[in-house]
Formats: sequence, C-alpha cells, structure tokens
Amino acid sequence: MPKFGKLVIGAALCAVLATTTVAYARVSRAQKDVATQRLAHMNLQAFQLGVLAQMMQGRQPYDPELAVAAADALASLAQQDWTTYLLPGTSSSEIETSRAAASIWTNMDDFLARKQGFAEAADQMLAVAGDGLEALTSQMGAVTEACGQCHRDYRVIPAN
Ligand code: HEC
Repeated sequence: MPKFGKLVIGAALCAVLATTTVAYARVSRAQKDVATQRLAHMNLQAFQLGVLAQMMQGRQPYDPELAVAAADALASLAQQDWTTYLLPGTSSSEIETSRAAASIWTNMDDFLARKQGFAEAADQMLAVAGDGLEALTSQMGAVTEACGQCHRDYRVIPAN
C-alpha cells in the first residue's frame, strides 16, 4: 500500500477513536453508577435462577426451603422499581460496558410491560416452589421465557 494511503487510514482511525473517547467521557458519575447497579441487579437475578436451575438439573438436591428462598428473592427482584436505574443517557450507545438497547427509552411502556410479565411469572413460580421438584420445574419455562423475551428486544449483542 502506498505510504499516503496508510497515512489516510491512520488518520481516519485516530478520528474514530477520538470521537468514541469524547462520547463516553460525557457520561456523568450518576449515569455510570446506575449502569453498574443495573448490571448487578441482572446478575442477582441470574444467581437466584441458577440456584433453582441446579436443582432442576440434578446438580443440587431439591430442597424446598432453599427453592422457596431463591424463588422469593427472584420475585422480589422482579417486583422492585427498575426505573431508578433507567436514567436517560445510560444505554449501550452511551456507556461502554452496557448492553441496554437505546430503544428501551423510546418504548418504555413496552419495556415495563415485559418487566411486569416477568414479575407475574416469578410470582407463579414462587407459589409452587416448595411443592416439589415437578411443580417447580413446571414454572421454569415461563420464567426463562420472560427473561429471553425482554433480552431479545432490549439487550444488544456486543459488537466484539
Ligand atoms: C424487562 C426486561 C428484562 C427482563 C425481564 C430480564 N432482563 Fe436481563 N437484561 C435486560 C437488559 C436491558 C440488560 C442489559 C443491561 C445493561 O447492560 O445495562 C440485561 C442484562 C442481563 C444480564 C447481564 C449480562 C449480559 O448478558 O448482558 C444478565 C445475567 C441477565 N440480564 C439475566 C436475566 C435473567 C436471568 C432474567 C430473568 C430471570 C432477566 N435477565 C430478565 C433486561 C431484562
């Protein structure tokens, strides 16, 4: 490649990198904090779901008390007010570590309806979590489907 061509590409790359840095630098402390909190909340949901999944997959013995505790924690996480961490300016377009789709903020009613659907499924699982492995298993599909339904539309696939 001619030297000039390389220089042009190099300059273009620098410009892209500089723009990216500036865009992320405008994010406030509060915006970064809620993005961290949001991810922590999601990871807690994954943790509680994992406790239940381990019992269903036979990797842990079914324990009604533990199952109710995990299902209860999951239902509480679903019930909580998520809008506290849905600050504008905290989508994956603005926060480097986030996978929250920008469309959440233009479809907030729909997003919150999905959250409500998830909360209802989690409540139904809680209602039967202590009634044996079969009863617990029968509600698992609805819960994971509720997670997936929201993720499909509102969690972006990372570029790399
Ligand atoms: C109403 C929407 C919604 C529901 C319901 C939902 N999530 Fe999420 N989840 C999101 C969004 C949005 C993100 C991206 C958050 C971010 O990166 O800022 C996310 C991210 C995550 C992450 C972080 C890791 C990753 O892949 O980005 C995990 C883990 C996760 N969700 C687990 C769950 C589990 C388990 C459930 C169900 C028990 C669930 N979520 C239900 C919207 C939802």
